Amino acid sequence: MKVCIVYASTHHGNTRKVVEAIAGEYEVELIDATEVKERDLKDYDMIGFASGIYAAQFHQSVLNFASVNLPRSKKVFCIMTSAMGKDFSKGFLKTIENREPEYLGSYYCTGYNTFGPFKLVGGTGKGHPDETDLRKAVRFYEKLIRTDEE
Ligand SMILES: Cc1cc2nc3c(=O)[nH]c(=O)nc-3n(C[C@H](O)[C@H](O)[C@H](O)COP(=O)(O)O)c2cc1C
Repeated sequence: MKVCIVYASTHHGNTRKVVEAIAGEYEVELIDATEVKERDLKDYDMIGFASGIYAAQFHQSVLNFASVNLPRSKKVFCIMTSAMGKDFSKGFLKTIENREPEYLGSYYCTGYNTFGPFKLVGGTGKGHPDETDLRKAVRFYEKLIRTDEE
């Protein structure tokens, strides 16, 4: 199975830690959307989109990459780190809905945040993603590929 994860991780590398944990255990190609603007994705069986959350959205480079390169009817999943540790995939999925993807699910966790006034108090979510967050992300990925093989 050919899998890639397109990601942007510009604040503290929180999201990069998550996708690298997955790529460290499974054969997954990582594509940094802040550097790579175009890529032919037609041969990939599954495509992940991973991002830190900035003003409640995925990084603009991930949004741009998806709208330029995502073929129709692909299996997609999302990974997010944010201060709130919530699921912010809805907005992203809205931007790719015209590609009619098969959405497989999302993994999200807290990420260390020092944006704006939070810096003054030492930031929030210090130490995250931690080992437990990373283990859970790998388990999320395992489940995806196991379900796909069934
Ligand atoms: C400019 C900026 C805006 C942010 N906006 C939000 C937000 O709207 N909601 C949230 O939960 N976290 C927000 N955060 C926190 C980041 O999503 C969090 O630190 C994330 O883990 C960063 O991921 P990265 O290190 O992979 O870039 C923001 C951080 C920055 C720098």
